[in-house]
Amino acid sequence: MSHRQLIITLFTFLLFSSVFMVAAQDGDEPLTVGFAQVGSESAWRIAFTNATLEEAERRGINLLFVDADNSQDNQITALRSFVEQGVDAIILAPIVETGWDQVLQEVHDAGIPLVIVDRNVTADPSLYITRVASDFVHEGRLAAAWLAAETSGNCNIIELQGTAGSSAARDRQAGFNEVMALFPNMHIIISQNGEFLRDEGRRVMRAILQTEDMSVICALWAHNDDMAIGAIEAMKEFGIVPGRDILTVSVDAIPDIFGAMLDGEANATVELSPYMAAPSFDAIETYLAGSEVPAQIPVLGELYEPDTAAEEYAARTQSN
Ligand code: AHR
Repeated sequence: MSHRQLIITLFTFLLFSSVFMVAAQDGDEPLTVGFAQVGSESAWRIAFTNATLEEAERRGINLLFVDADNSQDNQITALRSFVEQGVDAIILAPIVETGWDQVLQEVHDAGIPLVIVDRNVTADPSLYITRVASDFVHEGRLAAAWLAAETSGNCNIIELQGTAGSSAARDRQAGFNEVMALFPNMHIIISQNGEFLRDEGRRVMRAILQTEDMSVICALWAHNDDMAIGAIEAMKEFGIVPGRDILTVSVDAIPDIFGAMLDGEANATVELSPYMAAPSFDAIETYLAGSEVPAQIPVLGELYEPDTAAEEYAARTQSN
């Protein structure tokens, strides 16, 4: 081998080994992911947060978690902080649909991949790599279809809505109303906002019970289980037997709703899985590896009734 060939061979070796070392080092660095969570307004939200923290720990991901305490301003501040810290990726669970365009553009301009999880945003979908979510319209349809079957299409309903401006509340209402429209004798008599909060569900239901004729009411439709449970507590204060005098249907499938079913006080719930972290982290890792990520990643849920409440309660309360 000539002197020149030796130098070229040595240079090539050093070049590839340095590239390999950089790649290997990058491969060993734990991912740092910023997660801007809505808050802790419901049992489902807390379960979603806990499942996400556990999944991050299991994967060795350095998760920067912010509980925005139900404030969009706090979420926007958190996103900007994640950009300043130069995180590898961001997960946003948006409290409401609008008001994200500017900050999502800043995240995009910083070259940081963003995953929208759970509720939706109206911002340009090119600003985020995917959305991991349930179909809220389908959840509303399932709830209405169950109630129509349960009452042979004859029911006057009280509706407790979730957070105004959230896609969860809007789409669940749309899906429920779409099916209810097929039944001329099904009507929503009263519809009020309970903010997805148990205390608000109780307070609003108390006010309704004090002013309205409940003898004509057949069912409660609540956009989440926490509001349903608050309303159930209010019904009992007024001598109404929930689950019998007034049927209940809601969304989330949290342990407490199965407990209420076991007490004969609740009738149906549509599951919203709290396990959205794994598909979110998978999408981030796939994107960072240079591969395609689907624009939507669905999370599915089904409707549960009292006949399976015992096993569902046990399954959802055992420590993982
Ligand atoms: O966005 C999903 C909803 O948010 C859940 O149904 C509710 O419990 C939470 O507040």
